[in-house]
Amino acid sequence: MTFAIHKAVFPIAGLGSRFLPATKASAKEMLPVVDKPLIQYAVEEAYEAGIRHMIFVTGRTKRSVEDHFDTAYELENELEQAGKTELLKIARSIAPDDMVCSYVRQPRALGLGHAVLCAEPLVGNEAFAVLLADDLMVGKPSITAQMVKQYEELQASILAVQDVPLAHTNRYGIVSAVHTNGDLTDISGIVEKPAPKDAPGTLAVAGRYILNPGIFQELKNTPKGAGGEIQLTDAIAQLLKKEKVFAYRYQGTRYDCGSKLGFLQATVDLGEHHPQVGAEFTAWLSSRR
Ligand code: G1P
Repeated sequence: MTFAIHKAVFPIAGLGSRFLPATKASAKEMLPVVDKPLIQYAVEEAYEAGIRHMIFVTGRTKRSVEDHFDTAYELENELEQAGKTELLKIARSIAPDDMVCSYVRQPRALGLGHAVLCAEPLVGNEAFAVLLADDLMVGKPSITAQMVKQYEELQASILAVQDVPLAHTNRYGIVSAVHTNGDLTDISGIVEKPAPKDAPGTLAVAGRYILNPGIFQELKNTPKGAGGEIQLTDAIAQLLKKEKVFAYRYQGTRYDCGSKLGFLQATVDLGEHHPQVGAEFTAWLSSRR
């Protein structure tokens, strides 16, 4: 089976200051939920959608991400010698043979839009996915797989969305709807982190996008916006004037692992479902309630 989307961009250069002190010297994308780093959840999600080329937009303090998706000869040797085949399988499965990883640096913290633009030489002239690893998304099929399927029908850019409380609009890109048909909404506008009183609605962008390559031209012309950064949201607002963009209500759960509360919720939920420790953990949790 061939899929319409071959490349995924992971912007990971951010400093993770919302998660200090943990992120002072470590990459926030390497924080584990149960036993797997956040970035691995996002890469597995893209892989499940048929994507094989993973493009990381990285920064000076993120070398551990490159190491994570590389072969660890010493570790593999040790595990092999010790006959620990299950663990060896886990270590090797992180980067399957048919997966290609590329890394490009974002030399300055100029925002999400700028990060995506840094990936242009690797993406080229084709549609691509963007996954923000902070948002841990759980769904069957994976949220990105659901979006790729939509893309195959629509051939237009698609943003994953969910309804949020009005008081939270200032945390998200908020879209304005033209017409809704089931899970899909034809959108007429998008604005980055509006105050509740200015928000055009409560349909908020989660950290998953499929974008047509026309976005790069818009990003090049996008001035600094909210927070003095080049916003992906602003470039999408410009793209919308030229081509259709859809918002897609995904089926699944999003954990905002950029926040401490979301991270804890993910840890508890995924811990309860973990094949090894889930049953015992759930029993322990209920014994405390
Ligand atoms: C980014 C985007 C925002 C989107 C959010 C989803 O914001 O700029 O439009 O709604 O991700 O998590 P951030 O959370 O990086 O501030």
